[in-house]
Amino acid sequence: MSTALIVLAAGQGSRMNSDLPKVLHQVAGAPLLVHAMKSGAALAPERQVVVVGHGGAQVAEAARRWDDEIQIAEQTEQLGTAHAVAQARPALEGFTGDAIVLYGDTPFISPDTIEQMVQARSAHDVVILGFEAADPGRYGRLVMNGDKLERIVEFKDATEAERAITLCNSGVVCAKAEVLFDLIDKVGNDNASGEYYLTDIVGLAWDTGRSATAVTCAESETMGVNTRAQLAEAEAEFQSKMRAEMLDNGITMTAPETVFFAHDTIVGRDTIIEPNVVFGPEVTVESGATIRAFSHLEGCHVSRGAIIGPYARLRPGAEISEHAHIGNFVEVKNAMIGEGAKANHLTYIGDATIGKGTNIGAGTITCNYDGFFKHHTEIGENAFIGSSTMLVAPVRVGHGAMTGSGSVVTTDVEDGALALGRAKQVNKPKMAFKLMDMLRAKKAAAKKETN
Ligand code: UD1
Ligand code: MG
Repeated sequence: MSTALIVLAAGQGSRMNSDLPKVLHQVAGAPLLVHAMKSGAALAPERQVVVVGHGGAQVAEAARRWDDEIQIAEQTEQLGTAHAVAQARPALEGFTGDAIVLYGDTPFISPDTIEQMVQARSAHDVVILGFEAADPGRYGRLVMNGDKLERIVEFKDATEAERAITLCNSGVVCAKAEVLFDLIDKVGNDNASGEYYLTDIVGLAWDTGRSATAVTCAESETMGVNTRAQLAEAEAEFQSKMRAEMLDNGITMTAPETVFFAHDTIVGRDTIIEPNVVFGPEVTVESGATIRAFSHLEGCHVSRGAIIGPYARLRPGAEISEHAHIGNFVEVKNAMIGEGAKANHLTYIGDATIGKGTNIGAGTITCNYDGFFKHHTEIGENAFIGSSTMLVAPVRVGHGAMTGSGSVVTTDVEDGALALGRAKQVNKPKMAFKLMDMLRAKKAAAKKETN
């Protein structure tokens, strides 16, 4: 059966105390909304609709950046969750499969859980995702009768006896699209909040000769983000899960609690990650690499056996080949570092190609930016770049070429050549002694005057 996702993301999220719409706050380098979309993506949905309201344009843009086929439905007034789902109807015109409703501020529903709901749907018309809450608080309560879900009662409308129920509503719903919209049409707003409750579709299902059930998941999956404190908790939850997965996958971390991953970090087996390493989005590390302490990586690829850091910074477009070394205080951006090449100390390599086996001396800088345009530096294989060379791009240093320390290289260096681009040194015998005597006398005279 084909599926469609409806992600509710119209709420204001005023408790975030933010100019940014709530669902765009990030966990592990991705907006909350993207986490929700990713959970649903495992079903390979035929259609995806995001219902936007507050900050709608911004939310729509973020959703389309994630997947440009996402459809946007607008809810201009937030009249309740059923009203929000109703806005997705035109986008699902002609769709005959199951619709799954997710919340944009609930990032951790697992793909397995959604899969289970879709399976339960074959026996029931409406499937709700519930969880046993440690503290049921103000969640909607699931009123069960055996495996039948009779109705959901919102906390505000519940009796004392109903409030004692600990099985709560997560908000995730699965129903055949046409059934969902048919039931939503019947939802009224005669309740304690004066809102159109999506939860009312359960009672209405039975009233119209249909059936409903609940699937349950761990409470940790249903965690919603309403405040900055909950955002920090969600980050912590994500990180601890990701660290455990990395350890399971054969990655060594001496202090896993100090390593931070992004939502999409991929690390190969037998890689070692030392303490205090941060991964931004879009990083892949192959097997058997070493990421040493205090390094920051984003948008880059590290190949097998490479050694990064300590204190290295790999920025977007850094491509580190096998067994290359990127050492302390070295920054690499949009550059290919060839196999076994080394840049071990205090260097900036931006917009460059560095050949196999080349050694980049301490303090080398690719001067890639003239204030208006970026330019490329190309260094061949087995070259030797002397310490503190300034490579003024665009420039090419050939295979097996060398540059003298402190050179400012402004023109291409052919294969095997030595480039010396620095002022000629002049030694003046005894001049230092004379100069020091003169300065000493000057200082003594000045002291006398002030006394
Ligand atoms: C809802 C459920 C409750 C459940 C809880 C789980 C209803 C009536 N209640 O309550 O049973 O236990 O979630 O967290 O569904 N939204 C819109 N447009 C609206 C209203 C809401 O897009 O008009 C979005 C919100 O941005 C949010 C989600 O829907 O992402 C849920 O809305 P919220 O107001 O948080 O519902 P709750 O009162 O928490
Ligand atoms: Mg809520």
